[in-house]
Amino acid sequence: MTQRVCPWWLGYLLASPLRQLMQDPRKVLAPYVREGMTVLEPAPGMGFFTLELARLVGPTGRVVAVDIQPRMLSRLKARAARVGLLDRIETRVATPTIMGITNLSGTIEFTLAFALVHEVPAAGTFFAEVAMASKPGAGLLFAEPAGHVTTANFETELETALHAGFELVGRPAIHHSHAALLMRT
Ligand SMILES: C[S@@+](CC[C@H](N)C(=O)[O-])C[C@H]1O[C@@H](n2cnc3c(N)ncnc32)[C@H](O)[C@@H]1O
Repeated sequence: MTQRVCPWWLGYLLASPLRQLMQDPRKVLAPYVREGMTVLEPAPGMGFFTLELARLVGPTGRVVAVDIQPRMLSRLKARAARVGLLDRIETRVATPTIMGITNLSGTIEFTLAFALVHEVPAAGTFFAEVAMASKPGAGLLFAEPAGHVTTANFETELETALHAGFELVGRPAIHHSHAALLMRT
């Protein structure tokens, strides 16, 4: 599996409004995210999904967005500030091998991991961190780009998630993506 990290400048393309025509963030996220939730988004990039997560959790909810590239996070914050959502979003800079989210232990109610896992050096460590941060019953929507990740590699990543303490509850259809909905056991 390739572990090349998405360059920061590609973040502009990934956050482009044109992408909404194929991957509408509201349609992707609304079935799983409720007002007041605490949500984890590893690898938000410049926030294509983050702004919608912040809208869905509402003023009483919180989105924790963790990325290894500060440039992605500063652009995300600027975009969120422009639409009045910054106070619902906490950003954190991670290292490639560890997110450093032990203080979230058992608090997360939903996690979005979109187009990330093929970039992390150790998927097992990544899913173990998400499992540790998640409440029992919390959802994890895990998706990978079909162009970059083969079906076989996606299934291997999924097995890793299941071993970390998640169970498979669905296979949502998302344009040009492999996707799985998991639940923390
Ligand atoms: C392909 S982009 C996807 C961005 C966003 N999820 C989206 O779908 O638009 C991958 C993102 O993962 C981040 N990333 C790569 N490795 C990471 C890691 N180990 N922990 C957190 N973020 C990481 C990159 O900096 C980049 O912002």
